[in-house]
Amino acid sequence: MDFKALANKYNTPLYLYDLDHMSAQYEKLKSAFKGRPSILAYAVKANSNLSVIKHFADLGSGADCVSIGEIRRAILAGIPPYKILFSGVGKNDDEIREAIETDILYINVESEAELSRIENIAKELKKRCRISIRVNPNIDPKTHPYISTGLHANKFGVEISTAKRMYIKSKNSDNLDPVGIHFHIGSQLTELKPIYEASEIVADMLRSLQAIDIELKFFDIGGGLGIKYDNETTIEPYDYAQVILSTLKGLDLTIICEPGRFLTANAGYFLTKVLYEKQNGDKRFVVVDGAMNDLLRPSLYNAFHKLEVVSENDGKKSKADVVGPVCESGDFISKDCFLPILEHNDLIVVHSAGAYGFGMGSNYNTRARSAEVALKNGEDRLIRKRETFDDLIALEREFL
Ligand code: LLP
Repeated sequence: MDFKALANKYNTPLYLYDLDHMSAQYEKLKSAFKGRPSILAYAVKANSNLSVIKHFADLGSGADCVSIGEIRRAILAGIPPYKILFSGVGKNDDEIREAIETDILYINVESEAELSRIENIAKELKKRCRISIRVNPNIDPKTHPYISTGLHANKFGVEISTAKRMYIKSKNSDNLDPVGIHFHIGSQLTELKPIYEASEIVADMLRSLQAIDIELKFFDIGGGLGIKYDNETTIEPYDYAQVILSTLKGLDLTIICEPGRFLTANAGYFLTKVLYEKQNGDKRFVVVDGAMNDLLRPSLYNAFHKLEVVSENDGKKSKADVVGPVCESGDFISKDCFLPILEHNDLIVVHSAGAYGFGMGSNYNTRARSAEVALKNGEDRLIRKRETFDDLIALEREFL
């Protein structure tokens, strides 16, 4: 990939997405479930650019959404409502109403109180709302605590005993239609055992529901499949599918999977240019034009992203921190990495930036967000313009 030419054409900081790589990841995961009916519902939060969502829509993907904004994006991008799910721990009444009116596949319910609100709203609308209940299997997914969700200590889902009560209530309601069961134990999962254990707990729950005549159609395994940022050992999609399917013997269900990172992370690059080198005592800093408002993952999770330097200088390397212009000591892209001496305008390509990159960006320090460019069949296309100062102040009113 000619990063230098693209950086010159579109300027930096810049996000680049290789859509062909996203297609390959989609096919790899989809084919792992072959032999069973399945829907991959792309987790829109990972990268919510309309062109990216449309790319998945064209591949036949559904969408896992966590706000009405994401549902509207999915529909605008061409995902049919019958492949859209609505998850999330705090949906408001307007969101629930619109989701019911849009006739999406189902709402993933996260508490008893939420189930009652959904029932009341469906009643007002004289509709029956398809629901699935998010079960919290109390399994440690062995990932970063901020992206771990399957323990009772986390705010997500409900306990098995609560879920059972909720299914019985739904079955007896004229306005609720229980169709699925859901779990998602965390993100960036690199071990199979917790997935197997969680799936087994949820499959057992499903069997106990069958025993009381509650027949569900969808087994929603959430997302979470990890990727290589560095040298992690990752899970092969085939093995992932096999351990889950092994817990479902004798059950006739459609698998719903909600991948985000697996589909987009390694298809994305964040391009940033060197502004200056500086030395504070023993400490070397490379100051670049990209910052935590563009790519928050290093600052928020101490996440590692591989760097690739595009420079004439490939001489002796020494330790440096790559930092942005934002006024926070926590504003860094990489710490203690080995880099050659860099010049003004040398390019640094940050790898694995296609998931939770642009979407977690902000306008902190009144910085305009980067442009986004997609690459497909050897062509590049601008899919989101760089923000301008006028965009940033457009919603503000005159001081009265
Ligand atoms: N389904 C549910 C219910 C989720 O909460 C998530 C992610 C996904 C699917 C997609 O997970 P994935 O396949 O992408 O792992 N900002 C963090 C990740 C937050 C994940 C939140 N939930 C990061 O940058 O690592």
